[in-house]
Amino acid sequence: MRAAALALLALAASASAQRTQTALDAGWRFSDGDAPGAEAAAFDDGAWASVDLPHTWNAEDAFDETPGYRRGLGWYRRTLRLGPEAIRGRARRFLQFEGANQVADVWVNGQPVGRHVGGYTAFTLDVTDSLVEGENVVAVRVDNRHDADVPPLDADFTFYGGLYRDVWLIETGAVHFSTEWGASGVRLDVPGLAEGDTRVRARAEVVNDGGLPARVEVIHVLRDPSGATVAEWRGSVALAAGETTEVEAWSAAVTDPQFWTPETPAVYRVETRVEANGDATDRVTEPLGFRWVAVDGDGFRLNGGHRQWAGTNRHQDVEGIGNAVPDDFHRRDVRLIKETGFDFLRLAHYPHNEAMLRAADEMGLLVWSEIPVYWAIAWDDPTTFASAEQQLREMVTRDKNRASVVLWSVANETPVSPARTDFLVRLAATARRLDPTRLVTAAVFADHERQPDGTTVFRIEDPLAAHLDVVGVNQYVGWYDGLLDKIGTIRWETTIDKPLVISEFGAGARYGLRGDSLTRWSEDYQAALYREQLAMLRPVPFLRGLSPWILMDFRSPRRPLAVVQDFWNRKGLLSERGERKLAFGVLQRFYAEVARDWRPSPTGF
Ligand code: GCU
Repeated sequence: MRAAALALLALAASASAQRTQTALDAGWRFSDGDAPGAEAAAFDDGAWASVDLPHTWNAEDAFDETPGYRRGLGWYRRTLRLGPEAIRGRARRFLQFEGANQVADVWVNGQPVGRHVGGYTAFTLDVTDSLVEGENVVAVRVDNRHDADVPPLDADFTFYGGLYRDVWLIETGAVHFSTEWGASGVRLDVPGLAEGDTRVRARAEVVNDGGLPARVEVIHVLRDPSGATVAEWRGSVALAAGETTEVEAWSAAVTDPQFWTPETPAVYRVETRVEANGDATDRVTEPLGFRWVAVDGDGFRLNGGHRQWAGTNRHQDVEGIGNAVPDDFHRRDVRLIKETGFDFLRLAHYPHNEAMLRAADEMGLLVWSEIPVYWAIAWDDPTTFASAEQQLREMVTRDKNRASVVLWSVANETPVSPARTDFLVRLAATARRLDPTRLVTAAVFADHERQPDGTTVFRIEDPLAAHLDVVGVNQYVGWYDGLLDKIGTIRWETTIDKPLVISEFGAGARYGLRGDSLTRWSEDYQAALYREQLAMLRPVPFLRGLSPWILMDFRSPRRPLAVVQDFWNRKGLLSERGERKLAFGVLQRFYAEVARDWRPSPTGF
């Protein structure tokens, strides 16, 4: 494997005229803990473990011992051989990390090439000037210790440490597309689609890393889902040495495009190449869906039609693997969600692996994507805001062309205070500025008050809601809040003219534990709670979406109850082994019934 990979590297590097992307997941050495001096090329890592990526050092951790799963440092090293032809051209070389939790420092041949802070977003480092002909050493120190300035700080999920997503070597010509934050540097949209204008706008950020001025042409080829070419257009610019600029170019109107919906997930591709002084020097392919989203008094609109969101939540957490989840597991979850009849997915509580978004585009899911601003963080600390805003910008930059993503969420369950609301209002404004084509949301608490007649009124009064397009509310009536008989006493009121999504409700159940609707932790109790919750929620006139908590049991240091939890959060509709609990069928039948009965301009779900 290594020899083949190295040979491929040598071959790829010689084609400096086009982008090549080479997987670097195989053949790493790993040190479980700190290793002072490990950044040096000559450091002896012979005693270290051999690992392949994706990798986490917490996959088999002992959650049940003090202090619980290990939060500390880990080191990764691997060699990278470049042939003589690779170095001759003015080619540019980048290391692209799809994710490292949560602070990564990277060295090449002992030289520092960059740091990334934040555990759930991609980053790309230009390593051109650090690589030499022959053997190179890449060293990465990953740190998942608590960092008061980096959200999330405390949460009901596991902060698995390590290089837990794929790593790539990217090579381009000297004039290339921006590679910032694991994205392609080519942004696509169809801004007039709602008014019937089917022209595609392409904005390509082009970097001239060559030593000479260049006459730059950017050429776009639009292919429909079958691969047939339906449009070709270009833009051009004169680019001085070292200059970066955005080249905007519009296609002609696309005749009768196939619209993207969960039922008809038509994914087009745009192949974009850049030519400098006539030579092709970089090429990327990005997805494009002809679809537009909006909200109005009757709820969520996709391509003009009203629809409900029938969904669930998902963590990136697999038994024995942790968050180091291979791409086929992500596709498996999307396929399961689709086959179950769901059309909506909340990616809790952080940006998920890009493989999830590719699958959601191709199989048809509406996606709520979220940054990990979770519970209480340092709302008045500018460093914390900068980190949250950077994670938001990286999430939007990576997934800006994904038809499946319709909602950017800036927070989950944050206690209301003036500093918190100011922080989140500014984040929501950043989300809108970065991407006016999607909707902004957050999962908030709803205030509730018991009435003299024994009912309980839930009111959405969070001051943040006025700054959102869609309001998500997490509520656990019947689990944390009262017993099953309380659910039927709930009424909902709102003064906010915004669609409501119940972004979380649910109950814990140990798969295989049977009882009745009074047996807490049994599948029967969980199923009874789902029936009561769905009956209570369905008639709520401003309810437009549901994503119960959660698709699958996941590991959490906050869930120590022996026998029933054993450091697993057991609210999954499936066990951690994918076994379906009774509640899974309750939800599946409800969504099938709603899909059959629901009419546009709905009154309730
Ligand atoms: C909260 C939180 C989840 C958590 C869930 C639970 O709503 O958003 O991250 O896992 O409740 O208590 O299970």
